[in-house]
Amino acid sequence: MKIVYIEHAGKTHEIEVAEGQSVMEGARDNGVEGIVAECDGCCSCSTCHVYVGPDWWDRLVPMEPVEEDMLDFAPGMEPGRSRLSCQLTVTEDLDGLTVQVPAEQA
Ligand code: FES
Repeated sequence: MKIVYIEHAGKTHEIEVAEGQSVMEGARDNGVEGIVAECDGCCSCSTCHVYVGPDWWDRLVPMEPVEEDMLDFAPGMEPGRSRLSCQLTVTEDLDGLTVQVPAEQA
């Protein structure tokens, strides 16, 4: 599936990410700046924080409490816009998903 990543400075990456991988893995494996993923997807670091636009928000899996708790510590967190990309598994429904890296992770 195609996932579009927009770095804080505006550089855009269109990356083919296999179904079943996370949005974070697609970024990390392809050198998207700002998605560090220190905990490697264990939902315990928040360095994979991204913003998701309103067009996509309702198509994402709902947040588990552990993701909500971690996001509370994420710099630049914006309710209704912020997700941890390691918790977003790529599916057909997410083909074309666009995410943006927060300024705080630049
Ligand atoms: S990679 Fe650490 S919370 Fe997502």
